[in-house]
Amino acid sequence: MNIKNIKSFIEFYKFLGITDCISNVQRSKMKIMVDSDENNKKTREIKTNEKNIITKSEAINNLKSQILNLDCNLKDVATNLVLYDGNYDADVMFIGEAPGANEDIYGKPFVGEAGKLLDKMLSFINLSRNKIYITNMVFWRPPGNRTPNEKEISICLPYTKKHIKIINPKLLVFVGSIAAKSLLKSKEGITKIRGKKHIYEDKENDIKIEARAIFHPAYLMRNPIEKKTTWDDLLEIDEFINSNKILQNE
Ligand code: URA
Repeated sequence: MNIKNIKSFIEFYKFLGITDCISNVQRSKMKIMVDSDENNKKTREIKTNEKNIITKSEAINNLKSQILNLDCNLKDVATNLVLYDGNYDADVMFIGEAPGANEDIYGKPFVGEAGKLLDKMLSFINLSRNKIYITNMVFWRPPGNRTPNEKEISICLPYTKKHIKIINPKLLVFVGSIAAKSLLKSKEGITKIRGKKHIYEDKENDIKIEARAIFHPAYLMRNPIEKKTTWDDLLEIDEFINSNKILQNE
């Protein structure tokens, strides 16, 4: 474990209710990671074709207009479209399931109880909303917070793929089963998908991106025993970020 994880490690264990810690790790053996790789800086522009260069912000606005014109039953009952939060230039993109009641009110993903837990989980590995980009598989709240059905997911899926293409992150993190199964084209549940290295592939757009999956924070609230497994998954994500010198934009 590198030095910056120690504080979050202790906080995480306090969070699990564990207050005493015995450790024999020698400080001198700990590695301090310094990210000085300027070459990792990304352009804020994307090429649409040989001549047209548009900013990510313009591309997201175009995407938003297309999504607003989608023919999806969820649109009729939702208050707001919930598209994204975070930093367009982030190298890590999180994809959840669907907005809940709070997200529907505020028009932003993960702002309710599950979002608070997700923020806490991110803070354990020194991530925060301004260092990541976050969206959902489905852009409107399913009534009563039910799981989105296959039709709703398949209507939104091509736009999530476009979304990924625009942000072009170095790492995708699928939050929960719906995102993991839909984007990895897997029939397996999150218990089997998490804890492994995956590649998200979009052949149409010639895109291949490293991907990981974690338990959904709403599931963790119901099954706190899985918080330990999630800590391991978060450390693996942290390891990927450090070893690939991924720029974490402030
Ligand atoms: N759960 C999700 O998957 N996404 C949200 O935005 C909120 C809760």
